[in-house]
Amino acid sequence: MDVRYQRHLEGVDWAEMKRAVAADDFDNGRSPEQLRQSFANSYASCIAYVEGEIIGTARLLSDGVCNAYVVDVWTMRRCRRRGIATAMIETLLRDVPGQHVYLFTSRETMPFYQKLGFIPQGVGLSRVVGRWLSGGSG
Ligand SMILES: CC(C)(COP(=O)(O)OP(=O)(O)OC[C@H]1O[C@@H](n2cnc3c(N)ncnc32)[C@H](O)[C@@H]1OP(=O)(O)O)[C@@H](O)C(=O)NCCC(=O)NCCS
Repeated sequence: MDVRYQRHLEGVDWAEMKRAVAADDFDNGRSPEQLRQSFANSYASCIAYVEGEIIGTARLLSDGVCNAYVVDVWTMRRCRRRGIATAMIETLLRDVPGQHVYLFTSRETMPFYQKLGFIPQGVGLSRVVGRWLSGGSG
């Protein structure tokens, strides 16, 4: 499988990304424009393509100094267990040397992150401010 990893956002078809994640049960409700904003406002991104089709995503939020957060990690079902998400995370982590990187995931996916050197830490707490996705445009 010939995978291309794109680190910039030029030419990204956000409607295609929306269709791809929705078809794979990884849609959290963002419109194509909200996906664009999410990626554009991130510290770093990686989008994986096979034959021109989006098959994977990962993003990093960071203050550029000490704290980073990994989000939107997804590989299309038919492309899993080929090292694609590992490659996406590893390329993103090279952008945040010296920083503490945190993430939220399910118990089932913990082994994936543990293989990448992540260790369980603390207790995650979360809150949605107002109605989900009500804050931006798009
Ligand atoms: C989790 C996910 C991103 C992994 O993507 P992937 O491209 O298949 O991951 P990799 O091929 O790089 O996996 C590397 C290793 O991690 C481990 N791993 C990957 N997926 C795993 C899973 N679902 N359960 C347990 N271990 C897993 C394996 O050890 C794997 O190595 P192996 O295939 O040689 O055994 C993918 O399953 C996915 O998109 N899941 C749905 C969305 C999701 O849960 N994202 C994380 C939200 S924080």
